[in-house]
Amino acid sequence: MSRRNIALIPAAGSGTRFGADKPKQYLEIHGKTVLQHTLDIFLSHPQIHYTAVILAADDRIFQTAANSRLGIFRAGGASRAETVRNGLRILAEQNIAAPCDNILVHDAARCCLPREAIGRLIACAGEAEAGGILALPVADTLKRSGGTNRIAATVSRNGLWQAQTPQLFQTALLERALSAPDLDGITDEASAVERLGIRPLLVEGDARNLKLTLPQDEPLVRLLLRPTP
Ligand code: CTP
Ligand code: MG
Repeated sequence: MSRRNIALIPAAGSGTRFGADKPKQYLEIHGKTVLQHTLDIFLSHPQIHYTAVILAADDRIFQTAANSRLGIFRAGGASRAETVRNGLRILAEQNIAAPCDNILVHDAARCCLPREAIGRLIACAGEAEAGGILALPVADTLKRSGGTNRIAATVSRNGLWQAQTPQLFQTALLERALSAPDLDGITDEASAVERLGIRPLLVEGDARNLKLTLPQDEPLVRLLLRPTP
């Protein structure tokens, strides 16, 4: 039987680098919040069976229309990895995710993800034991700085990829990876899985799938999300 695909959206960050008066997932763009744009991508995708959003415990801002395929859980952790771990625990406790189902973890702040990239990830990694992530080969020449703003060396970009999300893993594997006592340095799900000695697939991502991180990212995100006439 083929696995169900469940999206898990960590949205419990505070957006420190973005520096607004509220978390960046609540920035309004063309009449909807960043988080609602992200949720709509998954809720309208034919291959996604269920979407779970994990908010901060004290979130007072989130509002959305009722949807039987959307679960809203106030269970954010101190780090992104902890938020995802809490979300997985709830999905298991409430019998929403079976151990063999696929979990697609996706940053709330990546609100311009093209739908076809989700399809590509499921097609390439949906049946893979090691799971897989969207990523893009590094295009620019890379420089290492020597502490000051001076170039110490040019680093080969050969074989280097920039990780994106969604990152897709079977529930049981992701639970095992995130049950490690020390999640320090775990900035994405793949890095936790890699610590088990497993090598997830790299699946071609999309340049439009940028993460709203700094204020200067906002104009491009607005352009990418503009309504089509
Ligand atoms: N996130 C989360 N729980 C945390 C930290 C982050 O759910 N404790 C989520 C964010 O809401 C975001 C995603 O993880 O959707 C990626 O994190 P990032 O872009 O770093 O967002 P913030 O942590 O909010 O931003 P910053 O690091 O600038 O504070
Ligand atoms: Mg962060």
